[in-house]
Amino acid sequence: MNSENKFNHNTGIIGVIGHPIKHSFSPLMHNISFDLLGLDYVYLPFDVPSSNLKAALKGMVALGIKGFNVTLPHKEKIGQFLNDISEEASVIGAVNTIVNENGSLHGYNTDVYGIIETLNPYKEDLIDTEVCVIGAGGAARSVIYSLIRHFKVKQIHIINRTVQKAESLKEYFTAKMLYEKMKPHDLFPPDLTNIFKDSKLIINTTAVGMYPEIDDSVTTIEDSFTKGQIVFDVVYNPVNTKMLQIAKSKGAITLNGLKMFVEQGAKSFELWTGEKMPTEKIYKTIESYLTV
Ligand code: ATR
Repeated sequence: MNSENKFNHNTGIIGVIGHPIKHSFSPLMHNISFDLLGLDYVYLPFDVPSSNLKAALKGMVALGIKGFNVTLPHKEKIGQFLNDISEEASVIGAVNTIVNENGSLHGYNTDVYGIIETLNPYKEDLIDTEVCVIGAGGAARSVIYSLIRHFKVKQIHIINRTVQKAESLKEYFTAKMLYEKMKPHDLFPPDLTNIFKDSKLIINTTAVGMYPEIDDSVTTIEDSFTKGQIVFDVVYNPVNTKMLQIAKSKGAITLNGLKMFVEQGAKSFELWTGEKMPTEKIYKTIESYLTV
């Protein structure tokens, strides 16, 4: 530690950086939590284009900002500017949380905790089953990492509109995690309905169906879903997406993205403040703001 850093006490400022910084529920979630626990922090959104990313991190250190969430389009690129990143963030290739420890910037991926918390109640049911992941972007990476590391599934089908991206993800995880039981598919192969039907768990990792496009769904084929199947949509606004409505009508167990969102936030909150987020109150508050 140099002499300058000795006096670099962090302020109570935390934020989220992205570009554009869309309407996010993170400021609401964190500011209410600070309030409930009587913590002297404030959480602010910062619109930072890619060309200013490095400068923003320098500013963060100079101003003693305690931490950031990182969102699109910086999650993959920001790692190179940090002092170190966690094993999970490194394998996934994306950072969503930064902690400033007296000028030293540490990167984490807390999305994984949100995914694990959501799926953990079904851990036993998922052993040796086929799973279907729709999408091949950043969210899909965190989901696939979590499935490989924490759930003993038999096979992961990666279904994506651009099949080459699904193929790249398969290659990526084969190399990074030495996991070979992935199969890429186009979003509309003739046998798509059968892949869905044979899967114990279907996860939508795309933003399709998110407010205001609430009538959209990555699949509208009712036969895609079966009774007892688990269908998880990472979208949380609305909580009851079109895809989940269809799945529910076929008797599937449906999981929305709210738990994932709150639990990833709770993990980041703990990294910044050392305190537990009052999650039960937070669920109720966010639900009251969401489109049903
Ligand atoms: P994120 O980091 O949130 O996952 P992303 O990296 O932009 O966001 O990835 C978005 C994913 O949603 C991609 O897999 C994308 O498919 P393509 O790879 O073909 O672009 C998928 N996606 C976005 N809009 C879609 C749509 N209307 N129908 C099907 N898939 C869509």
